[in-house]
Amino acid sequence: MNKTLSGKTILLGVTGGIAAYKSATLCSRLVNLGANVRVMMTKGATQFITPLTLQTLTRHPVATDVFDERDASIVQHIDWADSADLAVIAPATANMLSKLANGLADDMISTTLLATTAPLLIAPAMNVHMWEHPAVIDNVNKLASRGATFVEPGTGQLACGYVGKGRLAEPDEIVEAIVKMLVGPKPLTGQRVLVTAGGTVERIDPVRYITNDSSGKMGFALAEAARDRGAEVTLVCGKTEAAPPNGVQIVKIDSAKEMYDAVMARLPGTNIVFKAAAVADYRPLHQEEHKIKKSAEALTLELVRNPDILQGIGDWKTNQTIKNDLFLIGFAAETTDVEKHAIDKLKRKKCDLIVANDVTASGAGFGTETNIVSVYGPQGLIEHIPQMTKRDVAERLLDIVQANRNGLEAHSAGKGTNR
Ligand code: CTP
Repeated sequence: MNKTLSGKTILLGVTGGIAAYKSATLCSRLVNLGANVRVMMTKGATQFITPLTLQTLTRHPVATDVFDERDASIVQHIDWADSADLAVIAPATANMLSKLANGLADDMISTTLLATTAPLLIAPAMNVHMWEHPAVIDNVNKLASRGATFVEPGTGQLACGYVGKGRLAEPDEIVEAIVKMLVGPKPLTGQRVLVTAGGTVERIDPVRYITNDSSGKMGFALAEAARDRGAEVTLVCGKTEAAPPNGVQIVKIDSAKEMYDAVMARLPGTNIVFKAAAVADYRPLHQEEHKIKKSAEALTLELVRNPDILQGIGDWKTNQTIKNDLFLIGFAAETTDVEKHAIDKLKRKKCDLIVANDVTASGAGFGTETNIVSVYGPQGLIEHIPQMTKRDVAERLLDIVQANRNGLEAHSAGKGTNR
């Protein structure tokens, strides 16, 4: 689940218009994104939707009366005003716009908003003639000049029977505006990220195969972290233990050959590749159509080399005839001489960075929830990342990738080249 708004407290003011029913969808979307939502309602709003509905969706009591002080240790409207990262009024009636523009404080919403220093987002909804009334226009302009952000009403059939501008913006549009205000532009927006994860499966016969212990967790964590930074993520995954993340494109493969084809076909247009999968270096020469029957005392399996996918990507990326800005991150599972092997692999496979883990260390490598890695660039060690959750390692890796790509872009811009 994408928890973009986790740790954020949103004060949601619901005022008395028919569109108040849409605040239920809005609450549920915000809660799903991890936000802590505190709802305030005017008396009018409670005519259209019950406080219990919004309390149930947000798991917080809903405030409808500024004098209804249930906790003697706090002054509720001040406490709520102080706790807010953002105040949102949706829907905002013409009456509430007027109160806010003129600094009135005669209900829970207007009183709390006078007391908060949090930014304000307003989504008005009203009859088209009300929206076009000079008094409303003045109030909107006054609030905008004080820094309020508006999600303007949409045009269409209004509940009052008119067709025109005045419908509350759709909850998704309001959520988008909220995310933009609270989280800001995401650093990987517009970037395509390809992640490989899990182990490959090399068939011997219909019921037997060669594989490895990879759980796919590191690749999944990278896919999630890149997704949450706004990237369009493709996850090419083999055999994995955990459930793959939502919000990314999943391409399921079995063998190294299938992974090679899936990855190579997607390189044009891809900006960043994390080659986190554990790929089998060899596969059985023959894949038997039927289950192998036991006969002799010994059975010899002949194995042949698989394509090296990372090498293939490195060759593609450095091929002078292919214009690309691919940034390639390889992984190295080592048991001895980690640094030496990692740097050697980085150079051989033409990676920009290589992430090495000592798979023998406890708390690192296959199947674990945590990892311990060292990141190398062509010049040597960039950073040692001590033991932390795979998700935290993924966040740190993305920071390093972003920093190193920016350096590269700044450097190449001076040379007038694409890289
Ligand atoms: N890799 C790959 N294709 C292969 C083998 C490995 O793309 N056929 C990639 C892995 O996804 C990883 C990197 O190469 O990003 C290093 O994997 P590793 O198993 O550590 O190295 P090998 O290439 O197998 O090298 P060696 O056997 O020399 O250690």
